[in-house]
Amino acid sequence: HAIPGAFLAVQARRGDPLARFLLHGAAGAERYQVIEAIRQQGRLVRTPFLWVSADHELCREVLRDNRFGAVDTTTSGLPKPLTALIARADPGLPNPVEPPSMLMVDPPEHTRYRRLVAHSFTPRAIDRLGDRVTELTTRLLDTFDSDQQVDLLPAFAEQLPVAVIAEILGLPTDARPSLLDCGHRAAPLLDVGISWTTYRRAIEGLRNLDDYLRDHFDQVRHGESTDTPFSRLALDGTLTHRELAANAALLIGAGFETTVNLIGNGIVTLLDHPEQLARLHDDPGLWPNAIEEILRYDPPVQRMVRIARHDIEIAGHQIAANDTVMLLPAGANRDPRVFTDPDRFDITRPNAADHLAFGSGVHACIGAALARVEGVTALRALFSTFPALHLAIPPEKRELVTLNGYRRLQANLGAKE
Ligand code: HEM
Repeated sequence: HAIPGAFLAVQARRGDPLARFLLHGAAGAERYQVIEAIRQQGRLVRTPFLWVSADHELCREVLRDNRFGAVDTTTSGLPKPLTALIARADPGLPNPVEPPSMLMVDPPEHTRYRRLVAHSFTPRAIDRLGDRVTELTTRLLDTFDSDQQVDLLPAFAEQLPVAVIAEILGLPTDARPSLLDCGHRAAPLLDVGISWTTYRRAIEGLRNLDDYLRDHFDQVRHGESTDTPFSRLALDGTLTHRELAANAALLIGAGFETTVNLIGNGIVTLLDHPEQLARLHDDPGLWPNAIEEILRYDPPVQRMVRIARHDIEIAGHQIAANDTVMLLPAGANRDPRVFTDPDRFDITRPNAADHLAFGSGVHACIGAALARVEGVTALRALFSTFPALHLAIPPEKRELVTLNGYRRLQANLGAKE
């Protein structure tokens, strides 16, 4: 039922470019060369390991087809005895990439969790969070001075999304550093065939998070915590601790590891295209579309994986039950059948928002509207406060495959407006 991680590793070591890409990803131009090679082979490509698609229509179709289900790719890369050991050592850790995280279960179980969590994402909730985002952004930028040298990743991009997640869960401000730490440790869990050391670090992060959440939910039950739609789930007993904690861990992981990358990738892409940044200065009304174009051009999530629940015929191919399909948003987002001149970054692109950066179908990102608010607010405020902002050294990418973003963005802020 799993992606044969060990087989992939052998092929990658032998120099197979596709295996290397599936296992390790690829940076910059190389990433798009491999994606184009996949596209040249067809809309859905069979490899010795799994099916893969860079085709917009097909990716969307698979994501919206309930004959495909969610699948955990992490432990499938580890040798079986280790997975068994982990399962015995840590039953019930709130793992965002294992059931009962909503991301990893199919309807009808999925529908139940999604409905409960959706109370935190109503238009009214997003409006209220939007006000907090503006307030936090202003406060953050107030701490920076003209010509300051700063790593914008930890000092800026990470701060907002993690504060917002803490608000949603009703966690106190002092929780933010430990949320960040758990998120960073757990992020590689989305990748295929990670090392045992990385896996252990991730599990330790989740154990810390579980301890923390247990205390927090206890406080909520004793009326000692902020009242939020999410914390109310702890009160009414609709969900078990494990269900509550797994979905809280998912919100933490999905909610900030991605949005940090939207902000970080946005900074780099806009600095690479100064003429587009100048247009945003002249017409700030272009910001919402610019955020869509950033999501299309350099998506924070690079792959989604599904498993066939039945034998399925799609796009002229026979997919056998239990076969795995990997969908590449970075490929779909540069599909020339949907986006004219797809490699061009253009903040006025009329259909920029047709990207698949937030997925599609039942698992489509529940936080998309919130992420858009965070992206527009953070980037608009940063570039209008520091219009001469520039990077001091070339940016460094994080060594992750599924999540796509920077580790370091050392910048000189220039004069403050
Ligand atoms: C699901 C991307 C921000 C919470 C997803 C999926 C994608 C995605 C691609 C679908 C995964 C799949 O189908 O396998 C992003 C990006 C973001 C972002 C690119 C920022 C730019 C957020 C935020 C939150 C959030 C801010 C919450 C505060 C979730 C949750 C799911 C999800 C809970 C699972 C939904 C389900 O399974 O029904 N996200 N996300 N995301 N996202 Fe986001």
